[in-house]
Amino acid sequence: MKRRVAILISGRGSNMAALIDAAKLADFPAEIVTVISNRADAGGLEKAAASGIPTTVIESKPFGKDRAGFEAVLQRALDEKNVELICLGGFMRLFTAEFVKRWYGKMLNIHPSLLPSFPGLDPHGQALATGVKISGATVHFVIPETDAGPIVMQGAVAVADGDTAETLAQRILGIEHRIYPAALRLLASGKVRLEGDVCRISGQAAPDGTLIWPLQD
Ligand code: GAR
Repeated sequence: MKRRVAILISGRGSNMAALIDAAKLADFPAEIVTVISNRADAGGLEKAAASGIPTTVIESKPFGKDRAGFEAVLQRALDEKNVELICLGGFMRLFTAEFVKRWYGKMLNIHPSLLPSFPGLDPHGQALATGVKISGATVHFVIPETDAGPIVMQGAVAVADGDTAETLAQRILGIEHRIYPAALRLLASGKVRLEGDVCRISGQAAPDGTLIWPLQD
């Protein structure tokens, strides 16, 4: 039985689209049963609808600081679709500790940095300002702290001297679209287990691939 997944978005939804595409594969262990946006103007809504995925808008703005009120409506929408797993894809709204606890181990987020480096806003600018030579993206379980939690998968890219926040973001986005479906596949097929604050993956191949940067001629 495929695991039932909701994707929560606030914007363009390119990670959402990557997850939807991956889930079209017959052997993918999860199906996307709904896309929920907290903004009516999220570009991802049209993309989801074009793929035949039911969408729901629950505007968060009218709730103001009443996070629990927003989450009560959200939880109802998730219950209606018998959602088992949640993927946040650029969902820009913080949750209460209660909601996070309710979904602990079942809610993934993606962030465009190698966490725990550069959580929060403008991770690409943070990476450039710090001068790191390698950055990337992280899929992790959601905990109450923003952009933190047990790490399921990471992908890395080299950072060039000439990079801008835009060029770096573009390269990292390519990695995001690869690792998010891969991480969801692992979770939905029961290969991910939590040991305290650390996430372990069963059936791992021997590590290969080394990224050393900058390389000299
Ligand atoms: C993605 O780069 C995602 O990693 C980031 O927002 C973007 C959403 O793009 N998420 C965060 O920064 C979370 N703190 P998308 O709507 O095209 O998937």
